Amino acid sequence: MKVCVVGGAGYIGSHTVYELIEAGHDVIVIDNLSTGLKEAVHKKALFYEGDITDFGSLDKIVAGESKKKSFDVVMHFAAKIVVPESIKNPSLYYYNNVEGVRTLLDVMVKYNIKNIIFSSTAAVYGEAKDGICTEESETKPINPYGETKLASEKMIGWFAEAYDMNYCIFRYFNVAGAHKTLEIGLLRDNLTHVIPVTIQTALGIREKMTVFGNDYDTIDGTCVRDYIHVSDIAYAHVLGMEYIVKKNVSEIINLGSNQGFSVKEIIHEVEKHYPVNYEYGARREGDPAKLIASNERAKKILAWIPKRSLSDIILSDLEFRKKHKN
Ligand code: UFG
Repeated sequence: MKVCVVGGAGYIGSHTVYELIEAGHDVIVIDNLSTGLKEAVHKKALFYEGDITDFGSLDKIVAGESKKKSFDVVMHFAAKIVVPESIKNPSLYYYNNVEGVRTLLDVMVKYNIKNIIFSSTAAVYGEAKDGICTEESETKPINPYGETKLASEKMIGWFAEAYDMNYCIFRYFNVAGAHKTLEIGLLRDNLTHVIPVTIQTALGIREKMTVFGNDYDTIDGTCVRDYIHVSDIAYAHVLGMEYIVKKNVSEIINLGSNQGFSVKEIIHEVEKHYPVNYEYGARREGDPAKLIASNERAKKILAWIPKRSLSDIILSDLEFRKKHKN
């Protein structure tokens, strides 16, 4: 299939491009390189610089490519994803994440592209009851990031109805790790996610890290999350795309491991390799105590099961960061 990957130079996008190419698909990447890296784009993918909020730039690229062969699928990864940043700067999140999706959908309508794979998030659930989320759990985000993703999900639903499109919306839990070649991984300035922060501290790239809150109602007082390897997530996109196109259906699917680990457990896992200098601090605004996926639907519909464990995730990120230390 011919696939347009918007945000394909970013972290999850670049891993998905690797999986798509391995599965034999024809991939065009569009990215504004705001956080993505051109070097992260697989050599067999064709790269265009373009911005998801700019109809003109998308239109020009898609028009040119469609003359060669129409697109079968669009994949959307071009989002802002940092919870604390979304609380400080909601405008940026609504503009990029909601307005960007609307612009992309308008382009899809114009060029009659019928299938979209959309990156959503566990943050749409907010404080889920007992912390376990099925796709039927109530959606009640507690931060702007989750709100913008939920708004986009709904918008995609309405566009699908109006223009006879199919969608596969993936709600990611906590994605981490790097590609097995160590060529791509999460590489950017001012990382905020707990696994890279812990590993950077272990490697001496950071002097110290703070655990945000140790008075939550969890096994050890620190927040519990469901960590999932980026290559497991990426592979699910290939399965999801093939599924919705073949069956002509739409789905919303959690991508997680069914298992939760606390921040302290992450630190202990990293400390199996190197010591970590950490201190306890105040709770971080917008953090739910516990978020764990039920991944039964992904198993049932896509026959997808995560292949990599927490220790695989940590080891791959550690090796990646050692390789790209400079
Ligand atoms: N944490 C620390 N210290 C740090 C960084 C994080 O204690 O230096 C804690 C956070 O407070 C939180 C946990 O580690 O309790 C996980 O935080 P992350 O920033 O790694 O991830 P989030 O859970 O906030 O968010 C991530 C993605 C979202 C996604 C969500 C789904 O950024 O896109 O997982 O669970 F929606």
